[in-house]
Amino acid sequence: MAMIPEETIKAVLDSTDIVDVIGAYFPLKRAGSAFVCNCPFHNEKTPSFNVNPGKQFYHCFGCGASGDAISFVKEYENLPFIDAVKRLAEKAGVPIIEGAYDPQQEKRQRNRSRLIQLHNEAAEFMHQMLRKSPQAAHAREYLKNRGFNAEMAERWKIGWMPDNSTLFLNWAREKGYKGRELCQAGLAGQRDENNPKAGLWVRFGNRLMFPINNDYGDIIAFSGRQLVEDKNSGKYINSPQTQIFDKSRTLFGLDKARKHMTKAKFALICEGQIDAIVCYEKGIQNAIAPLGTACTEHHARLLKRYTSEAVLCYDADNAGYKAMGKAFDHLAPAGIHVRCINMPKGEDPDSYIQKHGVESFQNLLENAKEYFEFKLDHEARESNLGDIREKTRISAELAAKINLLSNKIAQDTIINQVAARLGIGTQDLRAGMKKAAFDQKRQRNYENNKNNQLDHHGAPAEQRTEPTPIDSSVAVLCSLCLSSNEAQELLREQLESLHIPLQNTTGGHLLTTILSRKPDASANSSIMAYLNTLPPADTLALQLTLSYRVPDDIEKATMDTTNMIINSHYQREESAVRAALSQPGLTEEQVTHLMNRTIELQDILKNLTNRYIQ
Ligand code: CTP
Ligand code: MN
Repeated sequence: MAMIPEETIKAVLDSTDIVDVIGAYFPLKRAGSAFVCNCPFHNEKTPSFNVNPGKQFYHCFGCGASGDAISFVKEYENLPFIDAVKRLAEKAGVPIIEGAYDPQQEKRQRNRSRLIQLHNEAAEFMHQMLRKSPQAAHAREYLKNRGFNAEMAERWKIGWMPDNSTLFLNWAREKGYKGRELCQAGLAGQRDENNPKAGLWVRFGNRLMFPINNDYGDIIAFSGRQLVEDKNSGKYINSPQTQIFDKSRTLFGLDKARKHMTKAKFALICEGQIDAIVCYEKGIQNAIAPLGTACTEHHARLLKRYTSEAVLCYDADNAGYKAMGKAFDHLAPAGIHVRCINMPKGEDPDSYIQKHGVESFQNLLENAKEYFEFKLDHEARESNLGDIREKTRISAELAAKINLLSNKIAQDTIINQVAARLGIGTQDLRAGMKKAAFDQKRQRNYENNKNNQLDHHGAPAEQRTEPTPIDSSVAVLCSLCLSSNEAQELLREQLESLHIPLQNTTGGHLLTTILSRKPDASANSSIMAYLNTLPPADTLALQLTLSYRVPDDIEKATMDTTNMIINSHYQREESAVRAALSQPGLTEEQVTHLMNRTIELQDILKNLTNRYIQ
């Protein structure tokens, strides 16, 4: 996997203006020395998204999203970090020279590519099993009955996981994969976590296996369908969340469908992966499916890269109807126009196409209704619009949905249509929208708090990153070092006395690394480039310190804070030594050692006080 050296990232940031970058997506308004707009990462009516040209940094006071031009492109376009850098580099005309630079980053990348390699090879193994193994005859028969021929199975790399786990485990051992790697991939698990000798169990035994790809076509997970009905287990099971797979950010079939959705100008969203496959094979190649989950905001942003319209084709039951409503709630704010297909009860695209042919399904697709029309039709059928309470409930629901539309012109049109159809005034709907806006904001705040900070750096599959914990004095010093070379110099002179205290203070390594890597605090781009090379949790912790106020007397602030860290370290040690001394049963030698250390520590602390007073 390629890496981009820190200098290149710095060059990209140096030749990029964050105001131009964000301003190219939506209009920014000047507000004092900064620019503001409505936050693209959460829905809001009054702008709390600030772009700071001086610091080349954005920050949303509403949802806490923040970062530099690269993290903006990465988050907004839902791109891997490297691709976000490449995109900006291209615009800025900076050549990208890829090389290895950060051992930690490199290790993570190596780990990821190893996992992807394991997935690709395991898929091939299972595919060969399906094709050739005498024990897989029932799986081949099942697939044939569902209308799959050999080319289709090949195109989608469909496979069979043997019931007998030793077959897979032996294969993996021969290929040189460690048990740890199989567990990290979610393909296996330890029988007993406390006893590695107990061996491994294998997920997906005797299931028909569908590889799940990322949008570049690498296999990152599997979905396995039961071949023998077993009520004690799901009809489908997916790989668990891993370093490379997060189902809330993955859409089945996207790697194949994406260019077709750009051409067709819409995406067909089915509920099941077999539906997506069958549609694709019958020539409706813009079909995808979420993996047994609701459509999320991440899915919406992923889709938005390729198209601005989605047609939903879910089951014609109550669960399907609700799921379409939820999907709308995420797709609409991302600026995706939503239409819905009315399926006959009990059918899904697969069964419908088998029964009525693909032309007939195309017809349903072309006649898919606008979401609001679809919802109104449904309500008119299922509930009594003459009943005032029912009508109030429905108009409140619709107002909330209208409020989610990102296009204000479309919003006005819909308000008029819905009001006319419900026989209510547009002002009533608008009042409902106001109330909904309030509730939606509260809900979002709640969710943001729950998720804490956004991950601005990690790979999409990694879980939301928590910032590395950091002691408040260390945070102050980091902040000083990132805004002043003078502070860095002063601290480098103090390194001898700071070294051990930092090793024993929470987050101390963050400061040590800054001091050894020496990013240039007089150039924002250099700081940002440096931050971008750190593990995501560290980046986040340091980003948070960037908003600290820079003190007037940098030297005094630096020295005072340094002394506080050293002081509290030795005080902690002193109390620990005292506590140790009061333990019963110490040998004479131990007592002498501890006593000596107490005297040394008191000396150090006395000198520190002197140093502090100077
Ligand atoms: N699903 C799941 N776990 C289940 C059932 C379903 O994860 N126990 C997911 C699968 O991704 C499945 C989708 O939900 O493709 C839709 O489920 P369903 O409509 O029940 O299945 P179909 O796609 O019709 O599957 P099949 O045709 O194989 O029965
Ligand atoms: Mn089905």
